[in-house]
Amino acid sequence: MSKRSHLNCALLIAMLAAAFSAAGHAQDAVAPARGGLEAKLAYCKTCHGLSGQGYYGYFPMPRLAGQQPQYIENQLRAFIERRRTNPIMFNVAHVLSPSMVSALAEHFKDLDPRPIGGGPRGKLAMGKRIFEDGLPESNVPACSACHGTEGKGQNQIPRLAGQLYPYIVGQLTGWKSERGQGTTVDTSFIMAPTAHNLTRAQVEAVAAYVSYLQ
Ligand code: HEC
Ligand code: HEC
Repeated sequence: MSKRSHLNCALLIAMLAAAFSAAGHAQDAVAPARGGLEAKLAYCKTCHGLSGQGYYGYFPMPRLAGQQPQYIENQLRAFIERRRTNPIMFNVAHVLSPSMVSALAEHFKDLDPRPIGGGPRGKLAMGKRIFEDGLPESNVPACSACHGTEGKGQNQIPRLAGQLYPYIVGQLTGWKSERGQGTTVDTSFIMAPTAHNLTRAQVEAVAAYVSYLQ
């Protein structure tokens, strides 16, 4: 991807973020959370792992360690507003006050456990190629253009490095059934065409590659 498209991407995100923070303030009447931040974090970690490393449960619990605070905040709001539909995280998030959402989102950025990995090793070379160069023939841009060369993300663009393999496969294959469910366009629309244009085999390859990134 060229430098120019990277810049366009950042601009698009900034515009969307501005649109959301305006929409988000209308929600500030949500009831304040009971209990302190520490109690909430202990609860998050029962599913997301003691150091936010993620967990292979009945559902894959995504890694939150090292995740961008703005991304976490935007996703928690998306669950609350049902722009992103997930019954477990709706139940967790809808009781959180806006100030608790922001405080929780800040917590995970400094955690740095080793990735659990778990993707099939035979697909790493193909995954690396997709991540770094994209698939011009199928209109798939390089993931690194937005998610960064090390997959660490920025602002509303998530970190992918070390994310659980089955979680990423699930997100990319089911994008439109879970994300962008609101009545307005949100950040999920930036990712939607890329998720759509990847085949299952390509999804598995790129998910395997990022699952081992430190
Ligand atoms: C009962 C288990 C459970 C608890 C408790 C829980 N989560 Fe989750 N969380 C999940 C699952 C499962 C997903 C994946 C949802 C999906 O597939 O969309 C998830 C997804 C998320 C995501 C989206 C991650 C991404 O990469 O897009 C964020 C952010 C999140 N949780 C934050 C939290 C926070 C903060 C807490 C504590 C207040 C918390 N979770 C508590 C199970 C849980
Ligand atoms: C034009 C910028 C852009 C490009 C290129 C891009 N992404 Fe994304 N991606 C995003 C944004 C923005 C989000 C957050 C979407 C949201 O808010 O729901 C995202 C989210 C994701 C998620 C969800 C992560 C999570 O924790 O739930 C995955 C997985 C993902 N992208 C994988 C990829 C892969 C693989 C590629 C390359 C084939 C790619 N992305 C290319 C912008 C991009």
